[in-house]
Amino acid sequence: MGKGGLQGVVVADITSSLVDGENGRLIYEGYEIEDLAANALFEDVAFLLWHHRLPKAEELESLRAEIAAEAALPQGVIDLMKALPKDAVPMAVLRTVVSALAHYDADSESMDKAVALKKAVRLTGQITTACAAWDRIRKGNEPIAPRADLNLSENFVYMLTGKDPDPTVAAAFNVYMVLLAEHGMNASTFTARVITATGADMHSAIVGAIGALKGPSHGGANAEAMEQFLEIGEVENVKPWFEKHIKSGDRRIMGIGHRIYKALDPRAQILRDHAKRLAEASNNTKWFQIADDLANLARADEYFIERKLYPNVDYYSAIVLYTLNLDIDMFTPLFAMSRIVGWAANVIDQMSGRLIRPDANYVGPMGLKWVPVDQR
Ligand code: ACO
Repeated sequence: MGKGGLQGVVVADITSSLVDGENGRLIYEGYEIEDLAANALFEDVAFLLWHHRLPKAEELESLRAEIAAEAALPQGVIDLMKALPKDAVPMAVLRTVVSALAHYDADSESMDKAVALKKAVRLTGQITTACAAWDRIRKGNEPIAPRADLNLSENFVYMLTGKDPDPTVAAAFNVYMVLLAEHGMNASTFTARVITATGADMHSAIVGAIGALKGPSHGGANAEAMEQFLEIGEVENVKPWFEKHIKSGDRRIMGIGHRIYKALDPRAQILRDHAKRLAEASNNTKWFQIADDLANLARADEYFIERKLYPNVDYYSAIVLYTLNLDIDMFTPLFAMSRIVGWAANVIDQMSGRLIRPDANYVGPMGLKWVPVDQR
């Protein structure tokens, strides 16, 4: 049975995104990712994925306002967050919060598609608020409620800092959010589809997706990539570190390699440009340089060339988010904050699909006879 991991198995016909791994292209609903990253507001992308077309000006403003209005967390959820241990892992907190939000959502059990769209709007806003709120609560600060006049990226910066969002910082978060919104049949999206295909509700599907995204082979890699750059510490340590840990086969470079991309992940190219600009603007290019030097070493190495291993989205996004002063353990929640719109699009699409229930090849023994416990 091949290499396992369902590699190459097609599980659905979708319009939300095309991941062209051979040519390093990513398309959302017909639009190239480069075009969207240069021009789109995250809310444009949410509308595109949920309605299969770009919004008109008034539709964009209406979705922006709706997400901002729905982004407030119920007091019960804020109280729950305050009761959690301050050192709880942010992705685990997000998993708990989304599960808890279902209890306060009158629509949570509805399987109607129009209602599901409303839940998608609500969860998109609430997940952003929960991420910012948890970062404040764990540091002993009061969470800040979302503002009705801001877009999602601006609101995130505002709720994190309590200050009017710096336009450059909010714009950088917006690009990150646009790039991470949707990505074919990745592990967390597939998880959300499997749960939805059983007839379960959207909150259950999103809780499952958050669990899948948490893993270091998926969304958890952005935090691990940054930890690895910090461990390297100085530009002159890159080569010795590569020789010691990578040439020896002792470790993998986090943020490199992808199941589908056998060329450069187009998101990595866009994020590299942003990481470089942000690093230069902040007068601290060290982390960008370490990442870039390590990527160059890998790209010139036979092992990586043969296996077509290139930086993926998590590699340079680690530098972007670190330069924007986000705590490293908040990197993966930020990924979820964006991917919620792709998960929701896939959940709604899957609501009309069939139960996903693959088969397994039994390779165990046969013909064994029951042995009473005292005779084993
Ligand atoms: N560093 C060194 N070697 C690697 C790396 C890496 N980052 N990634 C893959 N390889 C090697 C493997 O050791 C394997 O070598 P082999 O053929 O000699 O056994 C070969 O490349 C293929 O690797 P697989 O693990 O079989 O590939 P798979 O498609 O299952 O895994 C994955 C893809 C998990 C992303 C892998 O490349 C990896 O672990 N990367 C590091 C973690 C990471 O960046 N994850 C984020 C992915 S993107 C996302 O989810 C947003």
